[in-house]
Amino acid sequence: KRIYVPCDTTALSMGADKVAKLIERHANARGLEIELVRNGSRGLFWLEPLVEVETDSGRIGFGPVEAHDVDALVDAGLFEGKSDHPLCLGMVEDISYLKLQQRLTFSRIGITDPLSIADYRSHGGFVGLEQAVSLSPQAIVDEVKASGLRGRGGAAFPTGIKWQTVHDEPWQQQKYIVCNADEGDSGTFADRLAMECDPYMLIEGMTIAGLAVGATQGFIYLRSEYPVAHRILNEAISRAEAEGYLGRDVRGSGRAFNLEVRLAAGAYICGEETSLLESLEGKRGLVRAKPPLPAIKGLFGQPTVVNNVLSFAAVPFILAKGGQTYAHYGMGKSRGTLPIQLAGNIRRGGLIELAFGVSLREILEDFGGGTFTGRPMKAVQVGGPLMAYMPQNQWDTPMDYEAFAQLGAGIGHGGVVVFDDTVDMGEQARFAMEFCTVESCGKCTPCRIGSVRGLEVIDRIRAGESPEANLVLLEELCETMVDGSLCAMGGMTPFPVQSVMKYFPDDLTA
Ligand code: NAI
Repeated sequence: KRIYVPCDTTALSMGADKVAKLIERHANARGLEIELVRNGSRGLFWLEPLVEVETDSGRIGFGPVEAHDVDALVDAGLFEGKSDHPLCLGMVEDISYLKLQQRLTFSRIGITDPLSIADYRSHGGFVGLEQAVSLSPQAIVDEVKASGLRGRGGAAFPTGIKWQTVHDEPWQQQKYIVCNADEGDSGTFADRLAMECDPYMLIEGMTIAGLAVGATQGFIYLRSEYPVAHRILNEAISRAEAEGYLGRDVRGSGRAFNLEVRLAAGAYICGEETSLLESLEGKRGLVRAKPPLPAIKGLFGQPTVVNNVLSFAAVPFILAKGGQTYAHYGMGKSRGTLPIQLAGNIRRGGLIELAFGVSLREILEDFGGGTFTGRPMKAVQVGGPLMAYMPQNQWDTPMDYEAFAQLGAGIGHGGVVVFDDTVDMGEQARFAMEFCTVESCGKCTPCRIGSVRGLEVIDRIRAGESPEANLVLLEELCETMVDGSLCAMGGMTPFPVQSVMKYFPDDLTA
C-alpha cells in the first residue's frame, strides 16, 4: 500500500517528518507492508502536512495531520483509506481548490516522488526534451515563440524572442543558460515548490534552452534560504547525468549540456539579472548598465539566456504538447497559465495555477476564502514589494499583464499578498522605501540616496510636519527614482508608495 507524506519545505516546517515516522512505526507494529513515498506538496498549504493514501479509486487525503493526530487516524482507518475522521478530506483530486485549477506546469507536483526519474517519465516527463532533440534549434525557438510564453520572473518579456537573440549570436563561442532561482519577492514560493517537488522539469526546460541556443553550460543561481531545494536539485542533477539527460551527449543528440547549482548569499538585488551575473562571476552583486543585454553579453561576457525558474519550467509542456496548445490558454497577450502564489492574511494560502484572465477577486474569494483573521480585506499587493497596493475597486481586474499595467499595477512573479482592515498603509509605504534603503546595491544615486530621503520624508509626513509640502516633495522624489534609477529596484520602489498616496491617502497622513 502506498502512503504519501510530502517532503518539501512547507510540509517539513509543519512537522511532516515526524508524521511520516509515526505512520511507519504504526505500520510496522501492525505488520502492514506499506510503501511510504515522500512526494512534494500539492500546494494546498493550509492542509499541510497532507497525508495521502492510495486506494483503488484514487488517493484519499488527510490533513492537516499533526503528530498527535496519527494514533487516532490509524484507529479510524487511515491505512484502509476509509475514514469518517474529521481530518479526512475525501479524494484529493476532488478538493475544489485543486480541481478548479489548470495545471500545465505544476501538473506533477504533489503526485510524484520528486527524485524518481521513472515517476517523472511516467507522468509525461522528458517528452519535451526527446522532441527537442529531434528538432533544429530554430524550430525549438519557434515553438516557444508560438506558445506566447512571457518571462515569468516578473518583467514578462517574450521568452521566444530572448532565445532568438541568443540563438542568433555566432555559434562558435561559449554561450550560457542561467536560471534565476533567487526568488526574492515577498509572498512568493512557486520557484521553490517547482524545484523541490519537480526538479527534473527545470532541468529539462534548461536543457531544451541549451539545445535551442547552442549553450553547453547552465547554472541555477539558487536563493541560499532554500536548503531543501539545494539538496534536491543537486541530487536530481547527478541522477539526470547518470541517465544521459545531461552531460556530454544529451539523449544521443551529439550535443552537450552540463548543469550546476550556485548558491546566492541573501541579497535581494542579486535577483536582478545583471547583479546576478556579477555574483555568479564571483564579484559583488552590483547592477550593470543595459545595454549590452545579457542575451548578447552576459555571463563572463558571453551570450546568455537568463530566465526565471517558472519560464524554464513551462518549456517541457510547450515542446511536448506544442506551442499552440499552451497559447490556447489565457487572454490578450498574456498566454498560457500563471502560477499564482496566495499569501499574507489569507485563510487558504497556496499555489494556484490558472490561465490568465481569472479575476483577482475570484482568486481571493473562491480560492483564498477570505482573510485568515476573518476581518474584511483592505489591500492586496500583487507582484512583490516593488508593485502597487490595489484597493477593493480594482479586484475585478483580470490577471493580464496589460490590464494590470493600465492601473499602474503589475503581476510580476504572481505573488498575491493580502492585508486586512487593520493594516496601516502609511506604514506599508514607509516599508517600501525602507526595503530599498536596505537592499539597494548602491550603484546609482536615485536608488541609494533617494530611498533614504524618501524614508525621511515619509517619516516627516507621518509626524505631521508640513504634510502638504512634504507630499509634493515625495511625489517629485518618486518621479526622479522612477526615471533615473539604473534598474527596477530604485525604478519600481516608488510604485507601492505612490499607490498608497493615491488610494489610501488618509493612512499616510494619519
Ligand atoms: P526588463 O524589462 O529590463 O527585462 C526583461 C528581460 O528581457 C531581461 O532578461 C532582459 O535582458 C530581456 N530583454 C529585454 N529586451 C530584450 C531584447 N531585445 N532581446 C533579448 N532580451 C531582451 O526587466 P528586469 O529589470 O529584468 O526585471 C524587472 C522585473 O523583475 C519587475 O517587473 C519585477 O516584477 C521583477 N522582479 C521579480 C522578482 C522575483 O523575485 N521574481 C524580484 C524583484 C523584481
